[in-house]
Amino acid sequence: MTAPLGMLAELTHRCPLHCPYCSNPLELVHRDRELTTDQWRSILTQARALGVLQVHMSGGEPLARRDLPELVSHASGLGCYVNLVTSGLGLTEARMADLAVRGIEHVQLSIQAADPERADIIAGTRAAKHKRAAAAAVRSAGLPLTVNAVLHRRNHDQVAAIIDLAEELGADRLELANTQFYGWALRNRAALMPTRAQLDAAEPVVRAARQRLAGRMEVIYVLADYQDRLPKPCMHGWGARQLTVAPDGTVLPCPSAHVITTLTFDNACERPLAEIWYDSPSFNAYRGEDWMRDPCRSCSRRGIDFGGCRCQAFLLTGAAENTDPVCALSPNHDVVLRAVAPTEDLPFVMRR
Ligand code: SF4
Ligand code: FES
Repeated sequence: MTAPLGMLAELTHRCPLHCPYCSNPLELVHRDRELTTDQWRSILTQARALGVLQVHMSGGEPLARRDLPELVSHASGLGCYVNLVTSGLGLTEARMADLAVRGIEHVQLSIQAADPERADIIAGTRAAKHKRAAAAAVRSAGLPLTVNAVLHRRNHDQVAAIIDLAEELGADRLELANTQFYGWALRNRAALMPTRAQLDAAEPVVRAARQRLAGRMEVIYVLADYQDRLPKPCMHGWGARQLTVAPDGTVLPCPSAHVITTLTFDNACERPLAEIWYDSPSFNAYRGEDWMRDPCRSCSRRGIDFGGCRCQAFLLTGAAENTDPVCALSPNHDVVLRAVAPTEDLPFVMRR
């Protein structure tokens, strides 16, 4: 087992947005259970000693933590590459300049749609104008900017306009990510599920944009995995490259692992991070191939996709050891076929 490359530091679950596609858990960690500044400093120090090079400061909205500047300085002082994953609300020019001096090296900014009206409806608050200001602040701090847009049935028709907006915001990279159905998003699955026609229409648009923007803006397209016949190699394998620390210190092999209720996860305040990474039952549960069941156990792709996503297997079949039902070879594939069957447009349940 090699050391982790990255750590997702979920500093808080507090967030000013109410996106219906939120992948955070249904039960959020309340503010009074969040780690203290000293606890985060200790975790960051342990992570660096373990080998972590990239720290993604995320949430919720990491700007909601008053000690964010201190945590950025600490992580950067340890030699980590620090990425800020933000909604942009509260990211003023002065705040961005300070964070840049302290060591933020990259910013990932979310957008919800191409036009402010629709974006604010999806965000559940007036957010779009703040995002423009946040993007400008990132550019004036001289930092690289990734714009992230989660795609679903209510904004898929805007893929071309979202690409134009990302260009206008000065993004170096655009992630067009079809919704992954975990946490709150699973609750809204029927309302969020893109249609086959939307997906078919998006692909040539993305292909053309990639050609047109080559060398200026990288365009990443995360496939809608329910509509694929092969599962994604989720997390590049369980507990293989990255760990997640939740706002209360729970250490997870993937950001959604909390859904697997048959596992018990350690807390970084109770056990050293290195021990959790190398020795804990939760991190070792699905490493290697011994845990696999058929058809994965005898499939030639098992070293390529690792049997897909363990969280999805658990959520859709009740056992994380099962083949991800997105795979057409899974005996449970009908669950996915039913989920993608055409439906009328349905209302969202906004994140509370
Ligand atoms: Fe991947 Fe398992 Fe499907 Fe083979 S059977 S393609 S290993 S998920
Ligand atoms: Fe957890 Fe795929 S989201 S393993």
